[in-house]
Amino acid sequence: MKPYSESCEQNQEPILNVLVGVLADRKRVLEIGSGTGQHAVYMASHLPHLTWQTSDLAHNHAGILAWLDEAKLPNLLPPLLIDAGNPNWPLEKVDAVFSANAVHIMSWEEVTGMFEGIGRVLTDDGVLCLYGPFNFKGKFTSESNARFDQWLKSNNPESGVRDFEALDKLAEREGLRLEKDIAMPANNRSLVWRRKKT
Ligand SMILES: C[S@@+](CC[C@H](N)C(=O)[O-])C[C@H]1O[C@@H](n2cnc3c(N)ncnc32)[C@H](O)[C@@H]1O
Repeated sequence: MKPYSESCEQNQEPILNVLVGVLADRKRVLEIGSGTGQHAVYMASHLPHLTWQTSDLAHNHAGILAWLDEAKLPNLLPPLLIDAGNPNWPLEKVDAVFSANAVHIMSWEEVTGMFEGIGRVLTDDGVLCLYGPFNFKGKFTSESNARFDQWLKSNNPESGVRDFEALDKLAEREGLRLEKDIAMPANNRSLVWRRKKT
């Protein structure tokens, strides 16, 4: 049976509205932590000019494949095994990376590995878009995000809502500059970085 996420259903349209602009001239997008596969199907069906490469830890692959098999989209690729904490990423260059709601699940070590991996696979003019809740200057942007952080940590002490400034430092190391910080529904943000050719 296909896995289903209600939050994906709710946030997919607002995210697409951001990605339509951000990915307008992109050809190949890597999604990290595809989860159920719902975002992949929705985005790939609305952005037919690009190839959408799904990825996740192995335990999510069957669910992602169930969504892909049903959608039968020519621009949607089966999941790669990409564990952010493991440096072996089995893919060629991509000109964009997208990841929703994954960095607050990963440990900080995995988040660091994810940015290093992105640095390796992204082209010189590549774009990175992260969607989710983020803290700014060490502060939660809402009570609900503070409660969410507590809930995450009660499941796994290594998880937690990430500081924008700490992520931006990791991005900077990979030659990425913040281009957009877009407010999204339910106290989420879309952060967009772009790599500039030097
Ligand atoms: C909260 S879910 C979000 C899924 C989907 N992107 C969404 O927005 O619904 C977090 C995702 O991150 C993935 N994840 C957790 N740790 C990871 C890691 N070390 N490397 C890659 N993905 C990871 C999980 O398997 C899961 O699919």
